[in-house]
Amino acid sequence: SKSHLTGITTSGTPHLGNYVGAIRPAIIASQQPGASSFYFLADYHALIKCDEPERIQRSTLEIAATWLALGLDHEKVYFYRQSDIPEIPELTWLLTCVTAKGLLNRAHAYKAATDANRANEEDIDAGINAGLYMYPVLMAADILMFNAARVPVGRDQIQHIEMARDIGQRFNHMYGEHFVLPEAVIEENVATLPGLDGRKMSKSYNNTIPLWLPQKELKKAILGIVTNSQTPGEAKDPNESHVFTLYQAFASAEETAAMRVAFAEGIGWGDAKQKLFERIDSELSEARVRYETFIAQPEEIETILLAGAAKAREIATPLMTKLRASVGLRRLI
Ligand code: TYM
Repeated sequence: SKSHLTGITTSGTPHLGNYVGAIRPAIIASQQPGASSFYFLADYHALIKCDEPERIQRSTLEIAATWLALGLDHEKVYFYRQSDIPEIPELTWLLTCVTAKGLLNRAHAYKAATDANRANEEDIDAGINAGLYMYPVLMAADILMFNAARVPVGRDQIQHIEMARDIGQRFNHMYGEHFVLPEAVIEENVATLPGLDGRKMSKSYNNTIPLWLPQKELKKAILGIVTNSQTPGEAKDPNESHVFTLYQAFASAEETAAMRVAFAEGIGWGDAKQKLFERIDSELSEARVRYETFIAQPEEIETILLAGAAKAREIATPLMTKLRASVGLRRLI
């Protein structure tokens, strides 16, 4: 069966978007018989947007504890921290040298940053570090290193996976068929989970609902989701409501259908949010207790991560030896 791989950047507190877009589908995939799964903490990626060492440390602990609390079987899967695999930056360089600069110019994150500079009549690269530019190549190395065919992610990562494909294909064309070309796996009804303000839930928009808020705070956050001013009794359009989109991401098909009816019958926003809160809370409450236990045991998490890295390097080290030789980096005699 095909292997799965996904990573989370360790620059903040995990939120509901990370959970429904990547972590939940990844854990389900890892439980399929015969699955081979690679899940990691993308701490090199974190350096691109975060220069606070304490925050990266804390985020690494939180995200690791999240995977474990949600039931990831760390002995069955490969679970590791990106920066514990020195072959990843090494592969990044080999891939950099087959990557067209023009491809990177078109990456959404880089383009958005240069477009903003242009709009402000600044130098187009003002304030942009070279890490942001190289982001897709580092991500290609993450994926290609482990021959991952399937990559569960939210919609915002599709372009990066297409680029990993392009880069892998180019390398294969030049140096032989070394890499499996990856595909994104997107769950359509949660591809982009909205945040409190209805835009994509994202650390950079400051509109997230953190995954492990205590019950009371979770409820408060959910009550803060922006809605229109329709009153109870007025029929509401589920397709225009973030409350509904969020509900759908956590509810069964039956519950979702019932909520559609409730919207048509004019459920009030307060009641709809209460139902949303109950749904999310019941999905997360047991794992929340496990999370609190894991987060208080950084030594155990460190041991798990180091063991995961050692296991991952059993694949990465021989592959790098082969790749180095394939491009001509080998002993003369
Ligand atoms: P990151 O850390 O921004 O997000 C982690 C995962 O969460 C998904 N996600 C969402 N899904 C649905 N709705 C949302 N509002 C939402 N917000 C975030 C993201 O799509 C992602 O799947 N570059 C990656 C990390 C990475 C990676 C990789 C992923 C590094 N190397 C290799 C896959 C394979 C990132 O910054 O994700």
